[in-house]
Amino acid sequence: MAIRGVLRVGEVAIRVLDLEAAAVHYGRHIGLTEVLQEPGRRYFKAWDEHDHHSLVIREADRAGLDYFAFKVFDDATLTALEHRIRDYGVAVERIPAGTYPRSGRRIQFQLPGGHLMQLYADKDRIGNTLPTRNPGVLPDEGVIRGMGPTRLDHVLLAGPNVSDTTRFFLQVLDFDLGEELLDNDNGMQLGTFLCCSNKPHDIAFVMNPEPGRFHHVSFFLDSINDVYHAGDIMGKHNISVEVGPTRHGITRGATIYFYDPSGNRNEVFSGGYIHYPDRPHLTWDTTQLGHAAFSIDNTPRQSFFEVVT
Ligand code: FE2
Repeated sequence: MAIRGVLRVGEVAIRVLDLEAAAVHYGRHIGLTEVLQEPGRRYFKAWDEHDHHSLVIREADRAGLDYFAFKVFDDATLTALEHRIRDYGVAVERIPAGTYPRSGRRIQFQLPGGHLMQLYADKDRIGNTLPTRNPGVLPDEGVIRGMGPTRLDHVLLAGPNVSDTTRFFLQVLDFDLGEELLDNDNGMQLGTFLCCSNKPHDIAFVMNPEPGRFHHVSFFLDSINDVYHAGDIMGKHNISVEVGPTRHGITRGATIYFYDPSGNRNEVFSGGYIHYPDRPHLTWDTTQLGHAAFSIDNTPRQSFFEVVT
């Protein structure tokens, strides 16, 4: 597969109430590598990512999402996408190189659900500690820590106008619709799961009356065994768990949902099918809401549909 457009979600910036407590959670317990400190901000990467950072935490008086950013293939792609976004009627702000640490230029725009999205092509590559010639398979002892995620996987965002946001991703950013959840009474899209790569979703949106809300950020684990190991870490450190280990009907991924100390929802995720652009999109409806969300006990959790930051 030749992915030469939008590549992946490469940066998620979230607000936390207590920077030190959040740094322990994301650094020591989840096991991300802290790569940079600034006043009021910390930057992290998962061990197998090559770019400088993928998670930014900023101390604030309210939890939630500052912005998220997708990496695109190259600078020409960024230019082409800027034109397409403007032509679609969306205002685009240019952010010069160096505004964000270790990062090239970006463009920023607001989605119909109220979220701030950025695109960028360049960020310093610092590697995964392994050489690129004869790399071997395991980094040095101590590099994989805590829950041991290999990479940032996806985000799920909550807000109004899910269908408008979905149309923008399909028509302008060339994403595919992987799956959708419809209200069985009126056919309204309550949730959409969108792919720009082989992953069963690269980003997802769910309906919420309040714009710009954050549902969760998800970190990828290699296996379902690692999901259980992550659960053991949560138990050891009394991390607040919402649900799991279980499996999603949508995406078929194995999952645990849990909360950071500020109440932002996190997920560890493993498995799921491989998406190709010719795969038919799957539709669920609210008659099977429990099965769509959690396919082992088929029981929806009220908090899962109501708690956002
Ligand atoms: Fe997720």
